[in-house]
Amino acid sequence: MKRIVIAIDGYSACGKSSTAKRVAAKLNYAYIDTGAMYRAVTYYFLEHYVNLTNPKAVEDALKQILIEFHHNGKTEENETYLNGLNVERKIRTMSVSDKVSEVSALASVRNCMTELQRKMGKKKGVVMDGRDIGTAVFPDAELKIFMTADFDARAARRQKELLEKDQLVDLGRVKENLEKRDHIDTTRKENPLRKAADAFEIDTTHITLDEQVDMILNLAATKIIES
Ligand code: DC
Repeated sequence: MKRIVIAIDGYSACGKSSTAKRVAAKLNYAYIDTGAMYRAVTYYFLEHYVNLTNPKAVEDALKQILIEFHHNGKTEENETYLNGLNVERKIRTMSVSDKVSEVSALASVRNCMTELQRKMGKKKGVVMDGRDIGTAVFPDAELKIFMTADFDARAARRQKELLEKDQLVDLGRVKENLEKRDHIDTTRKENPLRKAADAFEIDTTHITLDEQVDMILNLAATKIIES
């Protein structure tokens, strides 16, 4: 059967990752969380005090970074590795969330990640989620999804997710972070978040995860037959 590229873009905390992960598992495709890649870069930059206003320092730091996704041996799920170390939990903290949009607005960072993402998706059979997958990384993706949800629903989901990772964060603080990231992610010069003209929009405010997954699997089945 023909293998395709499925691009899932949208705002933070709309349920992109959970949906993408399940869709990939059902189709036996690879799942690539591109947000995790930008988070890993941000974590490295924070740990190494990289000055974001110094292009040479940013370029040099990028050369030191190796990002991979592997199973951790315990679960079936892929986790994020930075230079051989599992950073899956470290990259989900608020200190990384507070800085990640600023880091991912840098052209050199985006070029580096885009190149890596294209390599990862070259053989197709991939579900990739992020902000610019359908518009910039894989503009020819066979299936493009744009996910949205009401702001309050997104904030409540993100707060719950953080608590599941043992981080108790005030709802106001979560909202402040989402608002700031939405603003930077949609207004940056380099490949801002926007819906591709040929993307299917799914509002996840009032639907379940199973429904989201089914919708995308149905669309994927049509695209696989067509292509
Ligand atoms: O999906 P996430 O919330 O983990 O993503 C973290 C940040 O990474 C997001 O606020 C913007 C950036 N990002 C990006 O610029 N481009 C992508 N393709 C994915 C994420």
